[in-house]
Amino acid sequence: METKILGRSRGWLDSAKALIEAGEVVAFHTETVYGLGANAFSDEAVLKVFALKGRPADNPLIAHVHKDYDITPLIDGEPPYAAALRKAFLPGPLTMVYPSTGKVSKYVSCGLNTLAIRVPSSPTAQAFLKAVDLPIVAPSANLSKHVSPVTARHVYDDFNGKIPLILDGGACSGGIESTVLDCTGEIPQILREGLVTQAMIAEVAGECNVYRPRTGEKPKSPGMAYRHYAPRCKTAYFMAEELEEAIACYKNEAKTGAPCFLCESAVCALLKGFRTLDLGGTPEEMARRLYALLRKGEQQATLLIGIEPREKGGVMAGVMNRMKRAFGVEHGTEER
Ligand code: TXA
Ligand code: MG
Repeated sequence: METKILGRSRGWLDSAKALIEAGEVVAFHTETVYGLGANAFSDEAVLKVFALKGRPADNPLIAHVHKDYDITPLIDGEPPYAAALRKAFLPGPLTMVYPSTGKVSKYVSCGLNTLAIRVPSSPTAQAFLKAVDLPIVAPSANLSKHVSPVTARHVYDDFNGKIPLILDGGACSGGIESTVLDCTGEIPQILREGLVTQAMIAEVAGECNVYRPRTGEKPKSPGMAYRHYAPRCKTAYFMAEELEEAIACYKNEAKTGAPCFLCESAVCALLKGFRTLDLGGTPEEMARRLYALLRKGEQQATLLIGIEPREKGGVMAGVMNRMKRAFGVEHGTEER
């Protein structure tokens, strides 16, 4: 199968709509990462997404809709805080988990009685979702466990010849996946940290918790159980205070291979003469650059050495979660 990459051009949405209606999978730009989209009402199309990614069958998918899509038939009511959060943050990088009415394919939620819904703000995503006017399941458009894609080229690298179309909206401005928020309880609870932070949600909803599974407990958001975002090269990870050890590790690898550091700008400045990939200086910059640099690192280095950013606060919770899991430092409670 030929994989086309189409930007905004005549007929681009007609092709996407025809493919989705035929049960095919279409990748598309969002403001967070690229998604691998399929009709949420079709068992066959949803199963195709799992098969393409090699995704574990117990990791549920998010249904994406355009901003005017009426979600009331899909969800079994919502608490008042959820309506306020929708108003404050949608369209945008916030996924909300509701009690499900079971109208979409049973494979979307993998046996959970909830449904995750997201309204992306990317104009490309909005145009595509409006054209199809269906809920579209869309996991990040990477092979399972690989680094999430933030350009059409990244999607192409993982799925060339396997999907018919990628809707190119340029590089993703957000860079890490949406915040996943459980809206089924009295207090909203973050299941996956992202660009909409705990503080931002608490300001609107009054309160907001972050879910942390206890050791041995099956996590509420099954995706958090897996090692993720892994670059395909060796990795090592150090704290900023361990720079000397990190340099020794670099020098050792340099005898036979090609090491490279991945670190924030301030630390890059201390590593003159070494190969570095610069994450940037602000939390937003680090979120935007992380995945592209992990993909660059795996292509250029035999060993990628991550140095933990000192920067904390804001979206750093989300960035750190991704970075640690990419480097295998933390990957949930269960290993597969
Ligand atoms: O930014 C994003 O959310 C991107 C773009 C493409 O929209 N999508 C994305 O999807 O990151 P995915 O499949 O890679 O991650 C979805 C996460 C997983 O951790 C999954 O376990 C969780 O959302 N999830 C989905 N449905 C859920 C549900 N009903 N209850 C709890 N967690 C759910
Ligand atoms: Mg993913």
